[in-house]
Amino acid sequence: MLGIETSCDETSAAVVEETGDPERPWAIRSNVIASQVLLHREWGGVVPELASRQHIRDICGVVAEGLQAAQVSWTDLGAIAVTQGPGLVGSLLVGVAFAKASAAAAGLPLVAVHHLAGHIESLVLQNGELPLPAVVLVVSGGHTSLYLVRRPGEYELLSRTRDDAAGEAYDKVAKLLGLGYPGGPVIDRLAQRGNERAVALPTTRLTHADRNAPELKGDLDFSFSGLKTAVLRYVRKKGNDSRPLFTESEIADICASFQRVVVTVLIDRLFDAARRHQARSVGIAGGVSANSRLRAELQEYGRLREMPTFLPSLALSTDNAAMIAAAGLRRFRAGSRAADDLNADASLRL
Ligand code: KG4
Ligand code: ZN
Repeated sequence: MLGIETSCDETSAAVVEETGDPERPWAIRSNVIASQVLLHREWGGVVPELASRQHIRDICGVVAEGLQAAQVSWTDLGAIAVTQGPGLVGSLLVGVAFAKASAAAAGLPLVAVHHLAGHIESLVLQNGELPLPAVVLVVSGGHTSLYLVRRPGEYELLSRTRDDAAGEAYDKVAKLLGLGYPGGPVIDRLAQRGNERAVALPTTRLTHADRNAPELKGDLDFSFSGLKTAVLRYVRKKGNDSRPLFTESEIADICASFQRVVVTVLIDRLFDAARRHQARSVGIAGGVSANSRLRAELQEYGRLREMPTFLPSLALSTDNAAMIAAAGLRRFRAGSRAADDLNADASLRL
């Protein structure tokens, strides 16, 4: 399976094959990623119009390299999988148009993949099939959602963020501290030197979790805009809007305090959902799953609660086409084929 991913600011192509082993169904032959981070950094975030233009420049070379690294040619492929959505519509269109054209030219079937199904599949790529039912937190620049996986390839949305995604909060806080884009990796790094109790920031709890009423909707939801605003107020009070007057160690303290709240909320909700749904395992996927503290706390909590925990490797955490190819293989095996008039869908539902 050739996978193609262009939903945001990474152009990626990968070749993934079936192993025949039901426990570890997929093997990565190649996974080539052209990141646009340097292009968007200048603007402090992803500029959609620039992103789609860069995808157009990169897609042919990235796919050629993906095939070459896997040592396969078009005639060796069985099918093509492409991210249909959600994401930036201009970016998605480049991948979808390229995949449709190459599937037609090579006479290959095409499979449409939901970007978050790809992130969830990154857990299987890395670790093999998860013990089910599993609760998976998908946490990235665009999403913070909990899914219940009862059967392989079936995803039930349990909760989502009501405003900002966690990665978006990282990016916005980094921007207001003048730390550049993307914010996650730099805050993660600086936080390791900071005092996580230095700045009092609110923990978001929308409603109290009712242990007696697990069907209560919405109380597993996330919200990060209040936290972001609290950091903004703190920075405004102490510093100056455009050039915060903080020492390096004060910045590290703000990063550590912010990160503590984000990670605590994510881990609490994840394990709360796992308990309510009698999950046999939990996982975290998506760009923010690269966060060192989130990874450490997931493993620590899992040990304490005797719950198997799963993470992708760092390379499979952020956007990549291997996870799209693997999710595509799962759908392909289940008989899914994209129609000839497949179109990108920026707000596709899982
Ligand atoms: O999954 P992804 O590559 O793209 C989306 O689908 O959004 O996630 C990108 C997000 C960005 O917001 C970035 O700041 C965040 O993941 N991120 C991190 C870390 N590495 C990337 N957030 C926290 N800690 C990290 N180490
Ligand atoms: Zn993503």
